[in-house]
Amino acid sequence: MPSLTFFKYLVCEAFSRTPPPREPEPAMLMDDPAQVAAFARAGREDGVIGQVYLLNTAQLCELIRPGDKVVDLACGPATQLAQVARLNPQAEFLGIDLAPTMLADAAAHIAQQGLGNVRFALGDITQLSGLADASADVVMSTFSLHHLPDVAALGRCFAEIRRILKPGGRVYLSDFGRLKRPATMHFMAYRHAVEQGEMFTTDYHNSLRAAFSVAELQAALPALGPGLRLYHSPLAAFMVIIRSPAQRALPSAAHAGLKALWRSLPALQQDEFEELRRCFKIKQLTIPALHT
Ligand SMILES: C[S@@+](CC[C@H](N)C(=O)[O-])C[C@H]1O[C@@H](n2cnc3c(N)ncnc32)[C@H](O)[C@@H]1O
Repeated sequence: MPSLTFFKYLVCEAFSRTPPPREPEPAMLMDDPAQVAAFARAGREDGVIGQVYLLNTAQLCELIRPGDKVVDLACGPATQLAQVARLNPQAEFLGIDLAPTMLADAAAHIAQQGLGNVRFALGDITQLSGLADASADVVMSTFSLHHLPDVAALGRCFAEIRRILKPGGRVYLSDFGRLKRPATMHFMAYRHAVEQGEMFTTDYHNSLRAAFSVAELQAALPALGPGLRLYHSPLAAFMVIIRSPAQRALPSAAHAGLKALWRSLPALQQDEFEELRRCFKIKQLTIPALHT
């Protein structure tokens, strides 16, 4: 259960009308070595956002099939990418980011994990000129759309996703949604400030202010093509998922791997994973259970 204070913020959000204007990220790219290190550290699988990575991975494992070519847009330090690639060893992955420091960190992480099915390319997610039309089976992106400068760039990114996807290709995009109250943004960013550290907390706060609203994302959705649905956490849209329907039941090896990852999360993150899973169930998005 969310704490009483958290619940109070959620209820206030639910009764508020429209979000404040968007405040784009101070810097589009994350290329400062200290910032990259802070994000990678807090974001590794046992870090403070480990439960969200796991939630994304569990859904991606239902979308990816053996032999698929998967493109991760704005892959950052490849925490998400490595987790998904490890559980889908028969798929090939390409991580794209525009920040060389991030890509160096990502390559080191993949090498350290000994994964042979991931490569990287420097590129802009609004202009994927290095990728041919209809060349990807799955396009994924996590925690990244809010880095785009405006809704026009979001539209260009969605049009590029549609262009590079094969017919029948699948999409999984997960990001923050813009909350309606600056006070809720502040509360969300600072509630685990001690564990996260100052730099990650500041980044998180900036991200919440830069997030696209549900209405902005919904308006851009047609550019991605048919068959996709947008889900957001109920009461407060702090998390938004745009995705294709599941392609297959979770293979038993992937399910076992996901359960092992869940067990390795700290207790607080295990609880938050369950909270998020319950939240999205209310919105008719079923995310595999990992605690049983
Ligand atoms: C918060 S990180 C998220 C990284 C990763 N997807 C994850 O979930 O851990 C956002 C990333 O987006 C990248 N980025 C921002 N704008 C971009 C663009 N137009 N093209 C490619 N990468 C971009 C940044 O350099 C940064 O690595």
